[in-house]
Amino acid sequence: MKSQEELLALVEQAIVANAWKREPAGLYEPIEYVLSLGGKRIRPCLTLMACNLFTEDLSDALKAALALEVFHNFTLLHDDIMDKAETRRGYATVHKRWNENTAILSGDAMLIEAYRLLDKLETPRFREVLGVFNTTADEVCKGQQYDMEFEKRMDVTLDEYMEMIRLKTAVLLAGSLKIGAIIGGASDVQAKALYDFGINMGLAFQLQDDYLDAFGDPKFFGKAIGGDILCGKKCFLMLSAYELAKGVEREKLENLMALDSKTCANEKISGVIELYRSIEIDKRCQERVNHYTAKASECLKKLGLPEEKLEPLSLFAGSLSKRRK
Ligand code: IPE
Ligand code: IPE
Ligand code: MG
Ligand code: MG
Ligand code: MG
Repeated sequence: MKSQEELLALVEQAIVANAWKREPAGLYEPIEYVLSLGGKRIRPCLTLMACNLFTEDLSDALKAALALEVFHNFTLLHDDIMDKAETRRGYATVHKRWNENTAILSGDAMLIEAYRLLDKLETPRFREVLGVFNTTADEVCKGQQYDMEFEKRMDVTLDEYMEMIRLKTAVLLAGSLKIGAIIGGASDVQAKALYDFGINMGLAFQLQDDYLDAFGDPKFFGKAIGGDILCGKKCFLMLSAYELAKGVEREKLENLMALDSKTCANEKISGVIELYRSIEIDKRCQERVNHYTAKASECLKKLGLPEEKLEPLSLFAGSLSKRRK
């Protein structure tokens, strides 16, 4: 079995080796740009880790891993337009550095490239892999739609939120694992166990992303702090605040959220974060991250593999729950 570092190196090599210098440069330079800015490469690493549980031959898994990372980065180009985000991975977002039309079209080209990469697979289980990929991609769009619709709604429940983040984020981690498992020759039960592990890890992952959006250190996080507050996102922190803030605090929250996000951005962000802290929403969020991280590791038991093989995945989930970026 390869180490985490070895798998990450394989992913980085594959990204660089894929020829991105194509014409017209206006379409492909933004793609090379976003892929070169780093990123944690979580999804491709999960594909390789899952496959590596069953085989040492990672050649097909690496192609799928690259496809998944390109797909993920495509979603980021469009997500940053939708979320009016100006910074990602510490650099200007594509729609800021170029323009929105570029981010839309380069994103489209990335989605097509993801399918082209997937089409290189030689596994006899290609149709199965394609099925997981299609279902996952479809669900991410659904999740993104709910995420936007929730911005305008004041009656979003925590259950609705959990389903929204399952769709927009968790299924891609889960699908990446399942695809790696299928390519590696896993049984249906094993592929499902890895999928369920990915869903719980993915829920924890998005909860942590929500947490970092307010409480992260901009030096590490690479995105602007408070973006979710300015968009009126019904993230875990905001939903919890509406649930827990009573009396004066509730009034304060409503006044803060009524502030204009353009002209009073700093006041709005710092006021809401202060209120989050005063009613210990940061702690509540971390508890939930830990809950789903523990739940994720439980799912691995159904794999029927020796403990030492499962440890890297458990450790990976644990490290994500403590991440600062
Ligand atoms: C960002 O994903 C989008 C979310 C689902 C929160 P990552 O946090 O994995 O982004 P990179 O690829 O590491 O930059
Ligand atoms: C991202 O959720 C989910 C997808 C891109 C599909 P966020 O909007 O919270 O991700 P960040 O915070 O911009 O990375
Ligand atoms: Mg978003
Ligand atoms: Mg976003
Ligand atoms: Mg976010």
